[in-house]
Amino acid sequence: MIKHFITQAHGDQPMLRGPDVVLCVPSGATGVERRALRDAASNAGAKRVWFIDEALAAAIGADLPVTHPMGSMIVDIGGGTTEVGVISLGGINMSTSARVGGDNMDEAIVAHVRRTHNMLIGEATAERIKIKLGTAKMEAKGKLPQTTVKGRDLANGVPAQITLSQDEVAMAIAECVGQIVQVVRTTLERTPPEIAADLIGTGIIMTGGVSLLPQNRYCPDRSHRFAGEYRRGSAELRSFGGRTSPGRSCLQAAPATSLDSRSV
Ligand SMILES: Nc1ncnc2c1ncn2[C@@H]1O[C@H](COP(=O)(O)OP(=O)(O)OP(=O)(O)O)[C@@H](O)[C@H]1O
Ligand SMILES: [Mg+2]
Repeated sequence: MIKHFITQAHGDQPMLRGPDVVLCVPSGATGVERRALRDAASNAGAKRVWFIDEALAAAIGADLPVTHPMGSMIVDIGGGTTEVGVISLGGINMSTSARVGGDNMDEAIVAHVRRTHNMLIGEATAERIKIKLGTAKMEAKGKLPQTTVKGRDLANGVPAQITLSQDEVAMAIAECVGQIVQVVRTTLERTPPEIAADLIGTGIIMTGGVSLLPQNRYCPDRSHRFAGEYRRGSAELRSFGGRTSPGRSCLQAAPATSLDSRSV
């Protein structure tokens, strides 16, 4: 995959020497994992390999003022990990990484359907259910959306079909949502007060596929700008709109000081 991206980045231009490659890594990546990544990139033809924290790369891609003496917070909820980073002066001031994300939600939906409907579904089906009906917080009013789910009946082994409603899905993924909120909360509690104060103005930027869950879904894009309103005892992050485009050309803009090749 790395080879493919290197070739794609070079286009038709001849490659006279191996390129310098910058890889995003979760802040919690171990030395062994980083070494494995470095080896993979070198084997793919990279001359020099640099690492950048995923949260910092997302912040740069989202056009946050990462080099300013002002704090910004990124919450990147991916398939396997949730990364929370507080960034100021071109570096990560505080970061937390937890191995919880969309895949855990899929597993929770599989387990819920098996437990309550005695039916087995695959993880791909669970992911479709999550994307269609998943929500970080239930809307109390109105008729709840439903979907038909097909799988295998565990009692007699034949194909079966059930109807699943949004409240069931919300209940199934609630524990994962709670864990993600806890990661954000823990990071906020460890953030120095001056930087925490900045977050009232700059808000919290959410990126990663799972940030598209409704009740996160205030904007149609992968990046959601939320007001940094954080109430103790409440999991609420309030939207104030704003749309950015993380990921694109973020590495061009990366300040040299933020690239860490010594971390292996
Ligand atoms: N519309 C959506 N609603 C909810 N979840 C979604 C949506 N679209 C994608 N996802 C979920 O987002 C996850 C993938 O997100 P992303 O592409 O950011 O992960 P990743 O960067 O590959 O993973 P990681 O950062 O953990 O290495 C998957 O679990 C996927 O099911
Ligand atoms: Mg990711």
